[in-house]
Amino acid sequence: MTDPKIEFKAITPAFGAELEQCELTRFNDDEVDGLLQLAAERGVVVARDQVMTPEQHVSFAKRLGTLLESPVNKGDIPKELLVIHADEKSRRAAGELWHSDVSSNDIPPGLSMLRMEVVPDAGGDTLFSDMVQAFETLSDEMQHFLMRLTARHDPRGHYLYLSGAKKLDELPSATHPVIRTHPRTGRKALYVNAGFTGKIIELTNRESESLLRLLYDHIAYGVKFQCRVQWQPNTVVFWDNRVVQHHAAFDYYPAVRSGYRATVVGEKPVLC
Ligand code: SIN
Repeated sequence: MTDPKIEFKAITPAFGAELEQCELTRFNDDEVDGLLQLAAERGVVVARDQVMTPEQHVSFAKRLGTLLESPVNKGDIPKELLVIHADEKSRRAAGELWHSDVSSNDIPPGLSMLRMEVVPDAGGDTLFSDMVQAFETLSDEMQHFLMRLTARHDPRGHYLYLSGAKKLDELPSATHPVIRTHPRTGRKALYVNAGFTGKIIELTNRESESLLRLLYDHIAYGVKFQCRVQWQPNTVVFWDNRVVQHHAAFDYYPAVRSGYRATVVGEKPVLC
């Protein structure tokens, strides 16, 4: 493990980190690199009390890499931010099942940076699951089998809307290895998710459905490799989509929960 250069408190022994008092907007380049390293190693990084404007959010996120854009934003919300909002009119909320952000992109996201402005009095936590431990807790035989497979990831309705496309056909699917290697740490992680993965290419439909169900159960029931973040106003959470899945708990209806997410483009997933 390299020295992450920034102080943190572990959320669980192997997964998640909460930064000690810090002001992200004052981070120097070494600290930004330390943050990227910490996210690669611990998956999830929480920073409390980060007062910033949407523009400051965007300029900090740009230091992490190229950002995805949301052409559907209204008013003066920067196109680099995705609005995450639910209130008494919402029948569902974004991210309500285990997923890795937009894995249907040919070059899917690396980090996501979500900052909450309004949070419910109770509930609205985000659950995170560590895909490195998810991989490592499978049997050797299953690990070797999965390392030979690739999966198709399909865009889904929510991202149709966000992309500005009119029909799902306009958005291509992408094929990625079922197990991918993190480019910074060299660690292997499980990379199929209930939000976007359509089929395991090398298997029949029935085989693919059964194997994906087994893997999704492993992720959902794997409480030993999960953590849960309780939001406060001005909490920022970074997660590394290469090695983390998340699930937003929509248990606070009809209260309001509102924030912005910046999503950093990663690289083509590979297994090496
Ligand atoms: C998401 O990015 O999928 C939403 C996460 C959240 O609202 O906690």
